[in-house]
Amino acid sequence: MGSNLVSGPRTAGWSELTAHAARLAGEPVRELFARDPRRFEHFSREAVGLLMDFSRQRLDPSALGALVALADAVGLRARMDAMWRGEIINPTEGRAVLHVALRQPPGGAVGGADIEKLVLAERARMLAFADGVRGGAIRGSAGQRFTLVVNIGIGGSDLGPAMAVQALRAYTTGAPRCEFVSNIDGCHLAEVLESADPRTTLFIVASKTFTTLETRTNALTARAWLEKQLGRAAVPAHFAAVSVNGKAMDEFGVHPEYRFQMWDWVGGRYSIWSSIGVSLAIAIGSGNFLAFLGGGHAMDEHFRGTPWADNLPALMGLLGVWNINFMKLPTLAVLPYDDSLRRFPAYLQQLEMESNGKSVMLDGSPVECETAAVIWGEPGNNAQHSFFQLLHQGTPRAALDFLLPARSSCGNQPQQNLAIASCLAQAEAFMTGRSAPEVRAELERQQLTAAQVQALTPHKVHPGSRPSTIVLFERLDPATLGRLIALYEHSVFTQSVVWGIDAFDQWGVELGKKLTEQLVPAVEDSVGGQAAPAPVLKLLERVREWRR
Ligand code: F6P
Repeated sequence: MGSNLVSGPRTAGWSELTAHAARLAGEPVRELFARDPRRFEHFSREAVGLLMDFSRQRLDPSALGALVALADAVGLRARMDAMWRGEIINPTEGRAVLHVALRQPPGGAVGGADIEKLVLAERARMLAFADGVRGGAIRGSAGQRFTLVVNIGIGGSDLGPAMAVQALRAYTTGAPRCEFVSNIDGCHLAEVLESADPRTTLFIVASKTFTTLETRTNALTARAWLEKQLGRAAVPAHFAAVSVNGKAMDEFGVHPEYRFQMWDWVGGRYSIWSSIGVSLAIAIGSGNFLAFLGGGHAMDEHFRGTPWADNLPALMGLLGVWNINFMKLPTLAVLPYDDSLRRFPAYLQQLEMESNGKSVMLDGSPVECETAAVIWGEPGNNAQHSFFQLLHQGTPRAALDFLLPARSSCGNQPQQNLAIASCLAQAEAFMTGRSAPEVRAELERQQLTAAQVQALTPHKVHPGSRPSTIVLFERLDPATLGRLIALYEHSVFTQSVVWGIDAFDQWGVELGKKLTEQLVPAVEDSVGGQAAPAPVLKLLERVREWRR
């Protein structure tokens, strides 16, 4: 059964875009620059402290115009309004999607007056707690200040705060050290506990559902470790939690004042703005956390109030659509030129791929075009010395996002200047490439023999026209990080509207979770263990042998 949704290839303008793509396919981007001396002005936009330069994308003014028109054709404005009004735009889970309400200032009324009240009240409680821990007013069972905060969570309950605490390291002076433990195997937790003093350690169990296997297991291990050293009575003073599941927090023994609420209308991967960000608030303090929320909110206002042609998140989302659906580039490499952003690609992996990694549309019919890009990446200079070779000359092709601060986030501007030069040089190299005649001329200047020139030339050709966007900003401060995250969130939303999919469910992760639960008895050799599928039992035979 086909879909009636106006999205993807059913959208007016889709075939026009296909024609633009075919026309531009053979057009080197450097030719586009040669033809338009004002290309930078035509293909860059600056707003809320971010300068987005997409002049190195394989686009010309008429293709960009058609791309921007897509936003209206799919009804992006109506969907955005529905999100802000708190309508159920995540139908498969029957939920509203209101992470934008979490970063509103007082009086914002985002999601309605009741939601605003709830959000502000819980935010105030959480920030008071965070400042109490940070400043030493809230202490452990033996009256000592906390020097170590261990966030136990996974996915959205880990990646956001872990990425942000690393990114904003420059703002963490005087705060307890924050560690983020997520994996089930227990090794990371063991590593963290090895040097931890239970008297000065605070655990935060961050889990929207409080049922996630990894988080529950690590939390129980941490509680057993603490009990063993300080006794059961010490537990409430050393465990805080964030969840929608009050009953589970009760059962775990979380102190009523150390538990923080979140709501069904906050998706895990959009939850850093909620109390899930408590570890970040402890690390950077409430003032900086509010600045972080303010950055996100500023991007919300920009997204809401700016025509698509100048709207950074809408443009970023549309450029993704252009690259995925029309340029046939299935992956996006995210390359920060500030090492503090080293976890940003991992954060974006969940944000983009869990949101838009879908094959059916909102009405359940199959999508009619490719959806989310595969996101990957590393800090830029490291990437230059590992996988850039493939990006410059390999057969797989990718689109690239460079994230570039002008100022050093650690006070070492001379070295940041080298990072800036590296980033801009790479973006240029990816765009201009190096043609065979240029390579040949260069080799001839080096006085190589004709045979050597002929042999080497093909190896040194860079095809160029690798499309990239540079997001330039002054410095990586809390507000800027908030803007950057919200930029990508709304870009993901824009894409989901173009493709007609639900960006806020994640049914694809459930099957594996269920099968894991079923297999545990077999792996543990306990009752019911023989219920595993035959091929799995074969592997388990060897597991048993090797762990004997
Ligand atoms: O398995 C995926 C997921 O459901 C994510 O969407 C979520 O961020 C993560 O698990 C953790 O879930 P929770 O916060 O409920 O522990």
